Amino acid sequence: MTKLVKVLKLESGSQKDASQSRRRALVAGGAGFLGSHLCERLLRDGYDVVALDNFHTGKRYNLNALQRNPSFSCIEHDIVDALPSDLQCDEIYNLACPASPPHYQADPIHTFKTSVLGSLNLLELARQNKAKIFQASTSEVYGDPFVHPQPESYFGNVNTHGPRSCYDEGKRSAETLFFDYSRTYGLDIRVARIFNTYGRRMQPDDGRVVSNFIVQALRGEDLTVYGSGQQTRSFCYADDLSEGFIRLMNAPNAPAHP
Ligand SMILES: NC(=O)c1ccc[n+]([C@@H]2O[C@H](COP(=O)([O-])OP(=O)(O)OC[C@H]3O[C@@H](n4cnc5c(N)ncnc54)[C@H](O)[C@@H]3O)[C@@H](O)[C@H]2O)c1
Repeated sequence: MTKLVKVLKLESGSQKDASQSRRRALVAGGAGFLGSHLCERLLRDGYDVVALDNFHTGKRYNLNALQRNPSFSCIEHDIVDALPSDLQCDEIYNLACPASPPHYQADPIHTFKTSVLGSLNLLELARQNKAKIFQASTSEVYGDPFVHPQPESYFGNVNTHGPRSCYDEGKRSAETLFFDYSRTYGLDIRVARIFNTYGRRMQPDDGRVVSNFIVQALRGEDLTVYGSGQQTRSFCYADDLSEGFIRLMNAPNAPAHP
């Protein structure tokens, strides 16, 4: 189902001329943890921003502060379904996908469809609009890696049929689609493999180490370290990640690899 929560006013006279010189970014998954940070940042940078989200894990209150901004609008829509035919944009950021295991495992088939059919729909939209398109991929494409830290050239140690495969293999398939659209149609694509990100608006119950430690500390409980305690993680602050997304999107030449 598609619901336009607030429509941008672009129709008349000088307003149209002024707005045409502004770039328009579509952020799929814009109501989520990372997507809402990216929307904020793009608005600060002078973009018109359209967030598109099915609110599966995203929260309306993540967008509260943005709803007052005339350059911001939000469409309630599932990217698995055909996209509204009149969407116009210069840049597309695809962040739409549940990211934490309890969320993506709740409906694994829909998670896989989100990565594959959702990416296909957005890639077609990018083709129609001659827009650049960014894919939020993940460190999970390395599966259970034997190489630490993982260089982008490492193909990973992966599993097609485990309980995490709907997410990991969906994201791997999405990368394949992005690179095939680039080779076949010359589409300008940017693919980032994101590791553990923390910051404002992360879900306290997402099951990841930063939120677990903070919630346990606030409750005065012991901090739980899983496994041997020898494992490593790579952390990034949400605002720094948005900065990285924007630098990757604006790099003069699309990198040939994730
Ligand atoms: N947070 C991290 O540390 C991390 C790490 C690696 C990759 N990523 C990727 O970054 C992206 C954003 O992650 P996040 O942490 O903000 O997660 P999130 O769950 O907070 O945000 C995902 C957003 O996508 C929306 N969404 C999900 N399925 C959709 C669909 N079919 N149609 C439309 N909207 C849909 C959700 O409602 C939500 O607003 C995801 O693609 C995730 O795989 C995140």
